[in-house]
Amino acid sequence: MKITLLTFDSIDSTNTEALKQARLAANEGLCIVASEQTAGRGRHGRAWISPPDAGLYFSVVLRPKIATKFLSLITLMTGVAVHDTLVEVGIKPDIKWVNDILVNERKISGILAETAETSKGLAVVVGVGINIRSSNFPVEIASLATSIEAETNTLVSRDELAERLTKYLSYFYDVLNGGEGPKQIVEEWKRRSSYFSGKHVRVSTDNETITGVTDGLESNGALRVIGSDGRISIIQAGDVEKLRTEPARSRS
Ligand code: BTN
Repeated sequence: MKITLLTFDSIDSTNTEALKQARLAANEGLCIVASEQTAGRGRHGRAWISPPDAGLYFSVVLRPKIATKFLSLITLMTGVAVHDTLVEVGIKPDIKWVNDILVNERKISGILAETAETSKGLAVVVGVGINIRSSNFPVEIASLATSIEAETNTLVSRDELAERLTKYLSYFYDVLNGGEGPKQIVEEWKRRSSYFSGKHVRVSTDNETITGVTDGLESNGALRVIGSDGRISIIQAGDVEKLRTEPARSRS
């Protein structure tokens, strides 16, 4: 994938701009980077607070050729790329299904994938927010979030981070598009996430809340959870929360 960077000092949302460019027939590999977002978006309609020079606000246009059923793996592939980008700057992150990058349970990065029908076919825009410094965090997220500066005591530049990220994104996107791509991405994700199996979690979906233990991923990246009654649930979309206390066990 050929990477082209388009940078802005300030923008409403890099995802909005990338979706616009995709509809205007932009090629795969166009990346939008901004120093500030005035209307950054997170999942489930939440805001992604994006103060000036506090983070990397990045979106890439993709035009995937993989089978529709595997499109959901683009988010996992991006999680793997963000993970390895952070390792390169001295951080050991975890990936919480499906797309939260955490350090000691605090969020350092989030991923938002959105799609658009365009004259060149379906485009997927993947947005990545990585916290570079914490000093500008609003109080409401200060205790839930962390940053590269807080974890390593060093300040990396936005451009350096963008370059490392595009390197890993290109690499893992090629992996995804290869012969055994979907299987390999699930394998790569497994190696980097403590949530893959054996984790006690509560999962909130649109219509139910499930408590249980994670049991691997389906081939499309859906999360398998074994409930206390032994029933397996396959979660295609939902919010995962780690349970602090393990479910009570019967005494023997
Ligand atoms: C989440 O964890 O809720 C996803 C957050 C995604 C934030 C990034 S920042 C760059 C891109 N532009 C946006 O408006 N959102 C994504």
